[in-house]
Amino acid sequence: MTGRLITLEGGEGAGKSTQARRLAERLREAGIDVVVTREPGGTEGAEAVRALLVEGDADRWSAAAEACLVNAARADHVERLIRPALAAGIWVICDRFVDSTLAYQGAGKGLADSALRNLHHVATQDLWPDLTLILDIAVEAGLARAAGRRGGEGRFEGHDIGFHLRVTQGFREIAAAEPNRCKLIDGGATADAVAAAIWAETEPLIAAPVLPAAANYRAPSVGEVDSHTRVDSGDD
Ligand SMILES: Nc1ncnc2c1ncn2[C@@H]1O[C@H](COP(=O)(O)OP(=O)(O)O)[C@@H](O)[C@H]1O
Ligand SMILES: [Mg+2]
Repeated sequence: MTGRLITLEGGEGAGKSTQARRLAERLREAGIDVVVTREPGGTEGAEAVRALLVEGDADRWSAAAEACLVNAARADHVERLIRPALAAGIWVICDRFVDSTLAYQGAGKGLADSALRNLHHVATQDLWPDLTLILDIAVEAGLARAAGRRGGEGRFEGHDIGFHLRVTQGFREIAAAEPNRCKLIDGGATADAVAAAIWAETEPLIAAPVLPAAANYRAPSVGEVDSHTRVDSGDD
């Protein structure tokens, strides 16, 4: 039995962390074993890298350096926490994952999408979520919400408004390009309404069969192609 990987995505203040907790509660009520984790971070090494990314001046890192750092953190997180949990049948809810890299370092900072996908392949052996919930909110509203939080993790909030607009647009384009995996949810609604929309997308996963194209797809090495034939999911 294998767990599912569900990711929460969206810009600053969209409600990802709030909804990650709420979705975990709902799944536990349905009798499912769940772990909630986040990126960058989730393991000791990845949390150390997180501090480098989310603290300090906006221009602390080049786009390329930032992409390598988030992928270094992700490699550790996937290898030491996410894959072992999935293999044990535990569902993983991850607050940000690969789509944040495509939106922030890609759409936001101009790195090529194909280069970022190659980096993801190296970092994770191509672990893609079973379901990605993209919370969509107007940039100003999200930043206003985020400003109400405490703590020194404001490096990305300190980026200019144009960057945040590109990120938000980037997430919308991902949702349009990969409609089977990614669901665009109105993050500007009440927390209860957002939770209901998320549950409507998530509940069907409980009964759905696990396909090898989903979370546990592993690129076959030479000689084992026959036993790991990929089932194409159609859109991504
Ligand atoms: N649907 C919502 N409506 C109003 N406020 C919200 C909603 N969802 C979250 N918040 C509040 O907005 C702030 C940012 O939410 P959070 O979940 O931390 O966003 P993110 O993790 O996407 O940055 C928090 O103070 C949270 O309580
Ligand atoms: Mg958060």
